[in-house]
Amino acid sequence: MKLRIFIFLLPLLLLSTTTNAHNITHILAKHPDLSTFNHYLTITHLAAEINRRRTITVAAIDNAAMNDLLAKHFSLYTLKNILSLHVFADYFGAKKLHQITKGSTTTSSLFQATGEAAGTSGYVNITDMKGGKVGFNPVDSDSDQPMATYVKSIEELPYNISVIQISHGLSSPEAEAPTASPTDLNLTSLMAKQGCLAFSELITAQGADDTFTQSVEGGLTIFCPSDETLKSFMPRYKNLTKEGKTSLLLYHGVPLYNSLGMLRSSNGLMNTLATEGANKYDFTIQNDGDDVKVQTKIVTATIKGTLIDEDPLAVYKIDKVLLPRELFKTAPPSPAPKSPKSKRGSTEDDDEADAPGPAEDDSDLVADSTSNDGNRFRGGELLSVGFSLFVGILMCIF
Ligand SMILES: *[C@@H]1O[C@H](CO)[C@@H](O)[C@H](O)[C@H]1NC(C)=O
Ligand SMILES: *[C@@H]1O[C@H](CO)[C@@H](O)[C@H](O)[C@H]1NC(C)=O
Ligand SMILES: *[C@@H]1O[C@H](CO)[C@@H](O)[C@H](O)[C@H]1NC(C)=O
Ligand SMILES: *[C@@H]1O[C@H](CO)[C@@H](O)[C@H](O)[C@H]1NC(C)=O
Ligand SMILES: *[C@@H]1O[C@H](CO)[C@@H](O)[C@H](O)[C@H]1NC(C)=O
Repeated sequence: MKLRIFIFLLPLLLLSTTTNAHNITHILAKHPDLSTFNHYLTITHLAAEINRRRTITVAAIDNAAMNDLLAKHFSLYTLKNILSLHVFADYFGAKKLHQITKGSTTTSSLFQATGEAAGTSGYVNITDMKGGKVGFNPVDSDSDQPMATYVKSIEELPYNISVIQISHGLSSPEAEAPTASPTDLNLTSLMAKQGCLAFSELITAQGADDTFTQSVEGGLTIFCPSDETLKSFMPRYKNLTKEGKTSLLLYHGVPLYNSLGMLRSSNGLMNTLATEGANKYDFTIQNDGDDVKVQTKIVTATIKGTLIDEDPLAVYKIDKVLLPRELFKTAPPSPAPKSPKSKRGSTEDDDEADAPGPAEDDSDLVADSTSNDGNRFRGGELLSVGFSLFVGILMCIF
């Protein structure tokens, strides 16, 4: 029994170490001539994305250059794509920019990472030109565009974030392509195209798509189980009643917009589209380092990718089906609870990890659920139980 107590204390200990290394809004606030750029980073939610990443470069443009961009009257969603071209997934301090080997390098931008960009769009060429100038050029930009050049360094926190100023806004036809407002999106086909096909098909088959679609305008966050995850769950899904199936699907939607940044800064209870009355069909958001976890009484899922994050709609891919206790009985305590294992084993960067490991998934689902097959020890679990014990013993001593 003691062991279990320590295991549950462990996440609390880890939580207290969660801090953001940098705050782009704060950095840019010291530069009034970059205030428009700063403002748009905030309202497009790119600021939160920048803050949660490490090893990143932000190429800011001044208010005059921002006004040129705003004069084109892009929608906020298109503007987000254009501004994400200004955030590079690598660290370029002033020194590195002026010492680029072979004079030129190509870096990927956040636009590339959003999945909105096709092919090479989303990559930016950086060229160390004659006379100490450094040029920036999106790989698929129109050739008649003036090349943006390096102006100065704004702030360097090696090797977390480098903020520089460049002369012009970066753009490309792909980034400028009109982006539909989330309220006009076809939710089920959006999910189907980005790795949640099985979940979207269940929603359609169950006639629950209207409930989801009608919720978008007021704000909606969906946690969709990946196709791999859902496949192994299907026997148990089929076993539910018609009402049970609908409740389970609606349980994966929260009638509020939550950006990843908001989820990261808010541990606590969330109501879902299935909630009817207090303490029914709710779950808990729990941060764990860079991971955001969704905890029901029965299972803990981790966010593994973002399908869309545009106010008022966010859709995240998760690695477990969320099992409400109203439909699935709590599992009897098993000798090797899974939670410490996933806590300790989730150190890899989730940014690009869109596809959860399928083999891992299936067995996790079984062990976390009502099935009585909870006796499977693996090396990692033994290690983490050992670690928990160690922490527990330390806590007894002090
Ligand atoms: C970042 O800095 C801004 C301005 O200083 C502040 O309003 C905001 O709360 C900070 N965000 C975080 C996550 O600390
Ligand atoms: C980007 O760099 C690559 C290789 O360095 C080069 O072939 C290409 O022409 C460059 N594109 C632009 C738009 O500068
Ligand atoms: C970079 O981030 C790490 C981890 O958050 C932090 O410990 C370190 O102080 C940061 N470096 C700088 C220069 O701010
Ligand atoms: C969404 O797309 C699917 C097929 O791609 C279609 O069957 C469905 O009617 C669309 N839903 C809406 C609300 O337009
Ligand atoms: C389906 O439900 C029955 C009756 O509740 C139960 O005995 C059986 O184990 C369930 N099957 C699965 C795959 O969950």
